[in-house]
Amino acid sequence: MGRLDGRAAIVTGGAKGIGRHYAAALAAQGARVMIADIVDGASIAAEIAARHGANSVASEVCDVSDEGAVRRLIGATLARFGRIDVLVNNAALFATLAPTKIIEMDVATWDKVMAVNLRGPFLMVKHVAPHMIAQRAGKIINIGSGLAHKGMAEMVPYAASKGGIATFTRALARELGAHNINVNTLAPGFILSDSILESGTHSDAVQNAVVASRAFKRHAHPQDLLGALIFLATSDSDFITGQTIAVDGGSVNT
Ligand SMILES: NC(=O)c1ccc[n+]([C@@H]2O[C@H](COP(=O)([O-])OP(=O)(O)OC[C@H]3O[C@@H](n4cnc5c(N)ncnc54)[C@H](O)[C@@H]3O)[C@@H](O)[C@H]2O)c1
Repeated sequence: MGRLDGRAAIVTGGAKGIGRHYAAALAAQGARVMIADIVDGASIAAEIAARHGANSVASEVCDVSDEGAVRRLIGATLARFGRIDVLVNNAALFATLAPTKIIEMDVATWDKVMAVNLRGPFLMVKHVAPHMIAQRAGKIINIGSGLAHKGMAEMVPYAASKGGIATFTRALARELGAHNINVNTLAPGFILSDSILESGTHSDAVQNAVVASRAFKRHAHPQDLLGALIFLATSDSDFITGQTIAVDGGSVNT
């Protein structure tokens, strides 16, 4: 028996990188999972269906910064699963962002990062929360970053957007607590996701500096995040809300 039997979850940005692992981990606990991504999530959906059955998973192409697309996604999720219990706001512009000095940053890049990384989670919550409120239960997991706490040169809009996520979580937890909805931030440290490895944007020197900053001096992988994800998605975390849980080998203290 899974910890999330009978529950339905949405993972944004679930087609690639760490999001694929979140989707598979939730399905392994019995949740039916909607994978929502700007790219096609059919391959991870097929993997999950092969392991847990065709009724365990669905995927939709969705740009989380577009309110019409988010409305259609929620409609499709409810049509398929009839409920939404867990929302993982994981989609973000990160692995594809080229490091850029602030004095050379163009407004379009700044606005795009904010649109995907902050407006996206806002729109998802705006359209998912009514269903959680009606159920008087729900788990919202916003994916933050250690960079919200440490900062990083030439990644200013990204770090600022993730700082926004931490505060979005705190404020939202206050508002949705009356409806028995948990809202927390899971803040990964630097993770060797497929997207990061393919992008080649982080040099060995940057990676080694991250490892040196940790209490546990090793690289981190998507699997390192899954225990905290399931903790935040299940009843084990029922009295925890508004918090940031850093999973980074002890690099930042939140
Ligand atoms: N990898 C790391 O080191 C690291 C560290 C801290 C936080 N994070 C966070 O973890 C999450 C996943 O990161 P990742 O390393 O897997 O990188 P990633 O770039 O692969 O993940 C982003 C996912 O979001 C999707 N996406 C992008 N724009 C979208 C949009 N407009 N609408 C819907 N989906 C969209 C992408 O297609 C991708 O699947 C992100 O929120 C990232 O900020 C990653």
